[in-house]
Amino acid sequence: MNALVATNRNFKLAARLLGLDSKLENSLLIPFREIKVECTIPKDDGTLASFVGFRIQHDNARGPMKGGIRYHPEVDPDEVNALAQLMTWKTAVANIPYGGAKGGIGCDPGELSISELERLTRVFTQKIHDLIGVHTDVPAPDMGTNPQTMAWILDEYSKFHGYSPAVVTGKPTDLGGSLGRDAATGRGVLFATEALLHEHGKSIAGQGFVVQGFGNVGSWAAQLISENGGKIVAVSDITGAIKNSKGLDIPSLLKHTKENRGVRGFSGGDPIDPNSILTEDCDVLIPAALGGVINRE
Ligand SMILES: NC(=O)c1ccc[n+]([C@@H]2O[C@H](COP(=O)([O-])OP(=O)(O)OC[C@H]3O[C@@H](n4cnc5c(N)ncnc54)[C@H](O)[C@@H]3O)[C@@H](O)[C@H]2O)c1
Repeated sequence: MNALVATNRNFKLAARLLGLDSKLENSLLIPFREIKVECTIPKDDGTLASFVGFRIQHDNARGPMKGGIRYHPEVDPDEVNALAQLMTWKTAVANIPYGGAKGGIGCDPGELSISELERLTRVFTQKIHDLIGVHTDVPAPDMGTNPQTMAWILDEYSKFHGYSPAVVTGKPTDLGGSLGRDAATGRGVLFATEALLHEHGKSIAGQGFVVQGFGNVGSWAAQLISENGGKIVAVSDITGAIKNSKGLDIPSLLKHTKENRGVRGFSGGDPIDPNSILTEDCDVLIPAALGGVINRE
């Protein structure tokens, strides 16, 4: 099922349970604003490359819209739309005074050099700068983006509007970013997992975990879970998958991943088929790559 169809279906179910007025329900399904921009950059070899960027601003009734920016080949308007809507529900359920938004560029960041990524980010910011802002819409890192991406957005935005560090979160601490932000989402995974296990009379220690995705969220979740006594038995990323039923040594795996740009080739485990990661034997499965991976198939 397409991400937007699934998100709309879940929202409609929740709206029915809440007894929401049908006109309000319909209005909440339509995004506040959808932005689609063309971003053309010169590549390092002098040729031109064009990409499509999106920013979907779903709702600002509760405060400035908030949500990440994703760089991934599979970014499409429906997916960004669904993720923007989910941000509105997340900030509302957590009762923080923000709305929801999400953005992305259809590109493969692994195929672009650092300077190409910088040019792409700056062109994207030039196209959307008058529609984001401290009190309007505050982007953050997501899949394929990181504190460096936020620093480029901050810098480019500031050329138009004056120094505005609060226009993005997840920026480097040197530029006013918050301590602990890098680990925050992975730490959230740890807390949510702890709470879930607690409901079943269990704790992190002694359980076996499988983690799909070993980027910001997956690697921090694996590190924190392993520090709390959990056993990470299998991990996958875009480069491959590895398994060690005795438990992977996460600090060594982090070092390997940094040096080799992926988990493939890690000597502390056996390679497995990445397609089997979701069905590997474990107590807790943590999907920390793309959404929508748990489905009927
Ligand atoms: N970074 C955040 O603060 C944040 C906040 C909220 C939600 N999320 C969500 O968490 C997820 C991961 O985001 P991230 O920031 O860690 O991204 P990231 O780019 O840092 O890491 C993504 C990881 O997933 C792997 N991956 C990509 N495609 C894969 C595939 N098909 N199979 C297996 N692995 C694959 C990549 O190799 C990488 O290891 C995303 O769904 C994102 O929307 C992230």
